[in-house]
Amino acid sequence: METRRVKYNSLHAQLEVLLSKDGLNMSKVANFVALIKQTFSSFSWVGFYIYKNDGLHLSHFQGKVACTYIEVGKGVCGTVFASKKPLIVPNVNEFEGHIVCDEGSQSEIVLPVIIKGEIIGVFDIDSYELNNFSEVDLDGLDKALQILINSLNLKEELK
Ligand code: SME
Repeated sequence: METRRVKYNSLHAQLEVLLSKDGLNMSKVANFVALIKQTFSSFSWVGFYIYKNDGLHLSHFQGKVACTYIEVGKGVCGTVFASKKPLIVPNVNEFEGHIVCDEGSQSEIVLPVIIKGEIIGVFDIDSYELNNFSEVDLDGLDKALQILINSLNLKEELK
């Protein structure tokens, strides 16, 4: 079976091609979440929360219906946004203040989305498996986000 690192290498190569063509930012972000969700069968939810009007708002995602709004500092997403540091949560039931969007979710990884030094939101992935995320995912997802950010037209509205 392919290791997860090998899957990330292949994901990065596919993203470089998929995102290299002209297109609106929203189309690229939509395909970005879709490709990650379809690459990793153990990821139950993949998506973005974008900062606007003092809070984090649900943006492009793949998975079940989710919470539409998260306050800065609340839950895993709000904590990552406030600290600008990624978090791996091996067991969401042990994370104080975890916001439940889907009761099946057991572990989670959240990365800050930083463009030109400014945090604009967070990238969130959930899994129905306990302890499903490691430093390999952090590295692989961070690189994937960089490919996405490099492909965006920063003069165009992102949200
Ligand atoms: N669990 C997250 C909320 C977002 S959903 O998982 C899609 C949190 O605690 O911030």
